[in-house]
Amino acid sequence: MDDTKKIMLSGIQPSGDLHLGNYLGAIKNWADRVEEFDCYYFMADLHTITVRQNPADLRRRSLEQLAQYIACGLDPEKNTLFFQSHVPAHAQLGWVLDCYTMFGELSRMTQFKDKSAKHKDNINAGLFTYPALMAADILLYQPDYVPVGEDQKQHVELTRDVAQRFNGIYGPVFKIPEPYIPKAGARIMGLTVPGSKMSKSIPEGCVFLMEKPEDIQRKFRRAVTDSDTERCVRYDPVAKPGVSNLMNIYSAITGRTFEAIEAEFDGQGYGAFKPKVGEAVIECLRPIREEATRILKDKGYLEGVYRAGAEKASRVANKTLRKVYKKVGFVQP
Ligand code: TRP
Repeated sequence: MDDTKKIMLSGIQPSGDLHLGNYLGAIKNWADRVEEFDCYYFMADLHTITVRQNPADLRRRSLEQLAQYIACGLDPEKNTLFFQSHVPAHAQLGWVLDCYTMFGELSRMTQFKDKSAKHKDNINAGLFTYPALMAADILLYQPDYVPVGEDQKQHVELTRDVAQRFNGIYGPVFKIPEPYIPKAGARIMGLTVPGSKMSKSIPEGCVFLMEKPEDIQRKFRRAVTDSDTERCVRYDPVAKPGVSNLMNIYSAITGRTFEAIEAEFDGQGYGAFKPKVGEAVIECLRPIREEATRILKDKGYLEGVYRAGAEKASRVANKTLRKVYKKVGFVQP
């Protein structure tokens, strides 16, 4: 791979099925960046067990996620695609960084506060130190950019702080990465609660990549629109969050501007607009679903992809890990 290219890295936890928000907000943009960057994308399986998982489901979803990454246009010849658990350096650097991340810093993480409130019976140490593992995920590859959603920005900032702290003691070991937050246009909100981002935890408002067309259409027909009196298709995220979210989705898929969409539905109510967005989504997801289903049946191919990915990722990651081990004073093996 070309050494002069900047490096980009991101991961998604295979703790739920991928949905339209993951696709439009993240994966679709990743696929567009491949010529410009050297890209690493992984299934963050180590992170998922901070919350109890059903083992068979986790295994199935992890493989499905890889098949869907590829079906969404992440070419495994051009991107490094791998499972986090296949590259031991993540856990190894994770431990080291645990020792350079402060209790107070971890206590302030909003995701920890949210998740420990949600899973009161399982506030485990991994849930607490998760951001140090995430810092390791990132810093191993010396990336320039880490594309993440707004909700992960705090973790990338902590990663920068930990990297700077380490570099301050031992010299320049880690590159300091920048978060790469997609423009507002790609932030997809839930169809039933347009105030919060699309999430598997509210399945009625969430469109999954592998979902059947009739189920997708039903979700769009039932999408919450706004109770304002004008009832026309107009972009105004404050006064009309529901309609604006649908416009966002329609715009991300068709490439049309908000003005063009307003003109297209001029004089028509929400009743005409919603199924039209549903249709656009169905047609956008159809080839992805078909391709992912086909790829998933080809176990040999998938295995080849994730093994080659882990090998490439390990090469890069081990280089950083060796440097870290040496700096902190471990005897070289
Ligand atoms: N914490 C991320 C999430 O829950 C997933 C993740 C783990 C990640 N490691 C990462 C994202 C490294 C970007 C870079 O969505």
